[in-house]
Amino acid sequence: MNLIKINQLSKQYLMGKTVINALNDVNIEIDKGEYVCIAGPSGSGKSTFLNLLGLIDTPTSGEIIFDGQSVFKLKEKELHRFRKDRISFIFQNFNLIPILSAYENIDFPMLINKVPKSERQYRIDKLSEAVGVRQYLNHRPDELSGGQQQRVSIARALVTNPEVVIADEPTANLDTTNTNNILALLKQLQRDEDTTFIIATHDPDIMKQADRLISIRDGKVEKNIYQVEKNK
Ligand SMILES: Nc1ncnc2c1ncn2[C@@H]1O[C@H](COP(=O)(O)OP(=O)(O)O)[C@@H](O)[C@H]1O
Ligand SMILES: [Mg+2]
Repeated sequence: MNLIKINQLSKQYLMGKTVINALNDVNIEIDKGEYVCIAGPSGSGKSTFLNLLGLIDTPTSGEIIFDGQSVFKLKEKELHRFRKDRISFIFQNFNLIPILSAYENIDFPMLINKVPKSERQYRIDKLSEAVGVRQYLNHRPDELSGGQQQRVSIARALVTNPEVVIADEPTANLDTTNTNNILALLKQLQRDEDTTFIIATHDPDIMKQADRLISIRDGKVEKNIYQVEKNK
């Protein structure tokens, strides 16, 4: 079933008097539980597209219909609630809160969602182990390497068991072993929880395990390739 339907989505940025067409008339449908990779050269519009999909930016024109709801027609408060309840975003630059420890950063979305303390503790233990940051939980972001921060931000995004995970180059700072651990975790979530993944990446290993590859160039969809049989 269609979870996300993207209709004629466009985004322009204004730089002084210059108009930058970062995204041009994109039409795509994404099913629940699909694992989609977004590829394309730097500057092609991947981050712009993900920011719109993650409801952290608004389009110049076009719409996103998420589970039957045209999301940019929602009032701001409803849009925030929609995003909080259904979507997790893994940022390219981590966006960790600098004054909080790794533990507190991962805990944060569960606090907002009022998850009971024992459950929060359990999930942080499990996930920090899975991404390999359990021994650094007391450290603040500035006491962690880029790769460690990236893994903390991945744990924070997954800890609420979100329906949709949007990730902007989530393994760019990771070595092969850590990348493989993360990839296994994502695949397991897709299988066990029917999590939908939309991931911008240059990493051939992520592309290999995706159900579908969408390549973007100059803000347009260039290719849309199913790597596994579409069966839902
Ligand atoms: N906030 C912004 N203001 C102006 N131009 C932007 C902004 N964000 C992105 N762009 C421009 O939009 C185009 C697409 O950028 P982006 O979506 O970041 O591509 P990618 O993630 O594929 O590298 C580029 O030309 C970039 O310079
Ligand atoms: Mg980008």
